[in-house]
Amino acid sequence: MEPRFQTNRLTLRLFEPSDALLVQALAGSEEVARTTLSIPHPYPDGAAEAWIERTRNASKDGDIFSFAMVKKEGEMLIGCVSLRVSKSENQAELGYWVGRPFWGQGYATEAAHKIVEFGFEGLGLDHIFAAAMTKNPASYKVMQKIGMKPEDNLPKQILKSGMYEDLVHYGMVKSEIIND
Ligand SMILES: CC(C)(COP(=O)(O)OP(=O)(O)OC[C@H]1O[C@@H](n2cnc3c(N)ncnc32)[C@H](O)[C@@H]1OP(=O)(O)O)[C@@H](O)C(=O)NCCC(=O)NCCS
Repeated sequence: MEPRFQTNRLTLRLFEPSDALLVQALAGSEEVARTTLSIPHPYPDGAAEAWIERTRNASKDGDIFSFAMVKKEGEMLIGCVSLRVSKSENQAELGYWVGRPFWGQGYATEAAHKIVEFGFEGLGLDHIFAAAMTKNPASYKVMQKIGMKPEDNLPKQILKSGMYEDLVHYGMVKSEIIND
């Protein structure tokens, strides 16, 4: 059975082919792509369909779990939260984006908290970490709010749009999870 979770305001479920247009519209916004490591901008036609198929297959293999954040009210897709699992190290990287109109309302924190719980309790992982550009305080604020601690500063770690960007890593181990 596919993993599916509820939080106060969100349903977290795997992406479906019918989500593609909204994924392209929301992830395709320059403000969302700017601080992410892998979202292309402009977002090409067909890329969302291909990504959804890839990510659904990866979840069957237990390698990547990408969940659509769907507002319970109105059943609207607003973002994505994901775990990229390294089975050999029994750890995963957490990632997320939220459509621009929905920023600043606690949705990333709510979704990330639930998915970290899934990672530790459902998948039995020992360590979950997340990486953010240092120029992206909203992202590492989410990491802080779910209980992650700074683990590493990585200067000039990635090349994005022709500029080297500094990254900060946050993380937590299983025993540190904050339960509701
Ligand atoms: C990062 C992102 C997912 C946050 O989503 P969100 O739903 O707005 O996050 P939340 O509302 O749960 O929390 C954001 C926190 O950052 C804070 N914040 C936002 N902008 C900030 C800034 N410039 N400086 C400091 N804090 C900031 C908010 O006030 C909030 O904290 P609070 O609840 O204590 O007030 C969203 O901005 C996004 O999608 N950005 C583009 C994609 C991206 O960067 N993804 C992360 C890649 S590592």
